[in-house]
This record gives sequence, C-alpha cells and structure tokens, in this order.
Amino acid sequence: MATVDGLEVAKHNSKKSCWIVLESNVYDVTSFLSKHPGGAAILLKQAGSNATTEFKKYHPLDYVNDLPPGSLLGAIDPNTLGKLNAPKESISKPSESVDLDKEIPHLSLCVSCPDFERAAKAVLPHKSYIYASTSANTGLSLKTNLDDWSRINFRPRVMRNVGDVDTHRSIFGHSSPYPFYISPMGTLGAIHPGAEPEMVKGAVRKGAHMVVSTASTKTSEQIMQTYVDEAKRLNGASPSRLFYQYYMPVDRKKAIDLMHIVKKAGYNGLWITVDTPVLGKRTADRVLQAEEAIAVGVEEDATAEWETGNENSFAPSMGGRPVSGQLSPHTTWEDLKWIRKEWDGPIVLKGIQCAEDAKLALEYRCQGILLSNHGGRQLHTAPSSLMTLLEIRTYCPEVIGKLEIFLDGGLRDGSDVLKALCLGATAVGVGRPFMYALAAYGAQGVERCIDVLSEELATGMRLLGITSLDQVRPEMVNATRLLNEMWRPEPVAVRSRL
Ligand SMILES: Cc1cc2nc3c(=O)[nH]c(=O)nc-3n(C[C@H](O)[C@H](O)[C@H](O)COP(=O)(O)O)c2cc1C
Repeated sequence: MATVDGLEVAKHNSKKSCWIVLESNVYDVTSFLSKHPGGAAILLKQAGSNATTEFKKYHPLDYVNDLPPGSLLGAIDPNTLGKLNAPKESISKPSESVDLDKEIPHLSLCVSCPDFERAAKAVLPHKSYIYASTSANTGLSLKTNLDDWSRINFRPRVMRNVGDVDTHRSIFGHSSPYPFYISPMGTLGAIHPGAEPEMVKGAVRKGAHMVVSTASTKTSEQIMQTYVDEAKRLNGASPSRLFYQYYMPVDRKKAIDLMHIVKKAGYNGLWITVDTPVLGKRTADRVLQAEEAIAVGVEEDATAEWETGNENSFAPSMGGRPVSGQLSPHTTWEDLKWIRKEWDGPIVLKGIQCAEDAKLALEYRCQGILLSNHGGRQLHTAPSSLMTLLEIRTYCPEVIGKLEIFLDGGLRDGSDVLKALCLGATAVGVGRPFMYALAAYGAQGVERCIDVLSEELATGMRLLGITSLDQVRPEMVNATRLLNEMWRPEPVAVRSRL
C-alpha cells in the first residue's frame, strides 16, 4: 500500500477535498460528505487530521468498510503524523437549563432516576447530552411517555404479610432478579470512554438483562466477550443475559451474515426494531448540526440533504442512528419468513404501537413484542407503550400469554415497572436513566441505577400487598383515565356517511 505524507493530508481540509486519518490509514471522504448520516460538518471538522478518536466514539472501526470504493488512499507515514491538522473543536455551549454547578454529585446522592440525568448533564459534552436527550419534533411523544405512567394509580391491599418479596422474572426462560432490563441504545462511545462494555459490566455485576444495539460503538463479539469475562471474574460462569437489537441491513447477505455472527456470539434473542423505516426528526440534533455546519461553512449542503427524501438521505442526525445501508423503508411482514429461517431463537418485534400489529406478530410466529415508540424519538404524537398495552388488552387479549410482552418509554421509577407487570407485561425496558448513569459514573452508576429501580419496585410490591411477581393482577391498578382516552373504532353508521 502507498504511503501518504501527513503534510499532504493536511492540505485536503475542505468540502472540495476532505481527507482523514483513521488508525494508520488515510481516507478520501469527499464524496461521502453529503451521505454521512451524521452530517457533513462532523467530518469537515476532522478534515486533514487524525479522526480516529472521534470516529471510535461513534462506530466500530470496521465501519470504514462502508466507505465508497476507492476511499482508501494508503497508509499514513508515521514520521509525518505531527504535520496533520488538529481537529476543530466541537460546539460546547451549555444548554439553556444546564446546571451551573459542574461538580458531579456523589453517587450516593442519586436516589431516583432523574438524579442521574442531572449528574450526566454536568459531565457530558453538549453534543453527547443532546444525542441522549433529543426527541422527535416538538417532544410530545416523549412527554406522553413520561406523563402516562402517572395517570395510572394502584389499588393496594393491606395486612398481607409482605416481609419477604421476590422480584425475579424470566425472559424466554432466562431468569434475572429484576423484571426490567437495559434498553438498546447506540453509540455509547459518545457517552463514556468504556462504551458498551462498561454498561455490560454494570449489568453483569447485578445479574440484569440487557439488549445490545446494532448501532454500538463496539462489535457484538467484543461486547459479549466483556460479558463472559466479567461473569467469569465474578463467579466462574453465568448464563448469558444478553439479547441483540437488530437493525436489519438493507443488503440481504449482510443481514444474514449479521444474524449468524450474533447467534454464534451467544445472544439469546433477536429484537428487530420495526419503528424506524426512516429516522425520526430529531429536532435538537438538527439545531446542533445546523450550528456546526454554519461554523464550518457547509450550511447550504446540510439542509439540501434532508429535503431530497431518497433512501440514503436520512435526516442529518448524530451518532446512534442506523447508518445508511442499515435501515430500510422497504421492510414488510413477509421479511419475517426468511428471517425466521436464518434465526432459530426467539424473535421480538421492537416498536409495536397498536393492537392490529400485535396480532400480526403472533400470526407471523414471533415470540415477543416490545411496545415502544423508541423513547419518543420517532413518530410525533405516538401512543405511549402503556396506551398500546391497554389497547391490546381490549382488542386482542389473546396475544397476552401467547407472546412475551415488553414495554419501554418513560419508565423512571420501580413503581412504573410494577404497573406494567400488573397489566400483563413480561418485563420492561429502561433507556435514558441507564445512559445517564453510565455517563456520570460508569459501571458503578449502572449498578446504582439497577439498585434504585429494584428498591422502588420491592417497596412498591410490599405497599401494594404482594410478595411475588406471580401475584400481579390487572385489578391492582386503576387505569380508567387512560382507558377513557383509548382509541375506539368509529361506529359503522358514521363511517358509511363519509
Ligand atoms: C440515545 C438513545 C439511543 C437509542 N438507540 C437505539 C438503538 O440503537 N436501537 C433501538 O432499537 N433503540 C434505540 N433507542 C431506543 C431505546 O431502545 C428505548 O426504546 C427508549 O430509550 C426507551 O425510552 P426511555 O429512554 O424513555 O427509557 C435509543 C434511545 C436513546 C435515548
């Protein structure tokens, strides 16, 4: 391979010609600028420089294979590294409501989930905080997720000998001390230097389930290896409690290869994300990208890109989003047939948002559904997962018991977990609180967040009058307020007049 001089690389520092160094190689990414799902500005800030550190925050290094053919120019001459440009600084203004006190609170001061967000806000770079917290459009889906948990109340029983409580639950036969798991979240390298392995360590130490994202910074094998190593270190061996969230690559061969890699690595189930045929409008990301584009002088390209609407021009976003080639708007239910042939373990559809699709999932022989609106990051004014669960209970109750049912979105308290279980959920996913805990405290924060939720859950069970999750029943909650607002089919007479 040819050797390239650092001084030469440094000259290619504009949108007309943009070269970057990744590990020991030089790449010409000029033609990729307009296609980069994270926007052109993030690449231009690295133009003519060594972009390895920044790149690794967002992607496994083998993502370079997705660059257009001919991008690899050669190996960087190691004696000329000093001649490269320095990467331009990211915009680092504090968000309007940021805590002025930048000290991270002592971990023991995190006694409920929102405390982790305050701590994370104090330490995370502005851009990473925006990535974690952003939601779709004006944020109504996220708001509904958070609000709906408080619109259901308990109907507690008293004097029931609640001295000892058992919070164990199994997911597809894999038991855990908790009925909640860590939701899949991409690009954890932008949140903590230890990225996904650091999150996994926290999960293993407590015995919690975790679903690993396709958009992880580390490969699925590296993440599983961390699980195995940490489990061995703790107690010799332990069954894997990891599941894999699958963004199905558009290319069928790549899609099958990825499934085989994941299966071989030892993941217990495939959670196919179905609520992202395209990326939602991540408003705060867009503002930040526009600011960065203006700063490097590419603002006109940045807007043109998201208006073209072709398959590969996803709305600019940063990190976490599936890259082009990994997200297809053409996926249909029929695809489940060939997926089923390649994957013989449990399949969960992540992102079910109405009763009809819950029924279809059963018909297409899935083993589970995850009621979710992607943490309010996809469809504007989507239903909360609680509302979807109520809809399923009303219109297709037969799926409960035949499918394992998971919920996520806005859960911030162990009592929320309990409400979902009363209404028939197998287990629930928690996203941002774990991400914030990781950001501020690493694996220890993740452990603490599990303890916080678990203690709230156990206390909630005692105060509700139960000692085991086998005893949860729908009549233990009052969901009338949500039921009153639940969707109902239009009366036939009204429909026929239209
Ligand atoms: C920063 C971030 C990244 C995410 N990345 C993914 C992902 O890669 N794949 C996926 O299926 N869902 C992803 N999600 C959605 C979560 O799996 C989950 O549905 C959501 O976070 C639950 O809502 P909560 O954060 O309010 O708990 C992400 C969510 C966040 C906040």
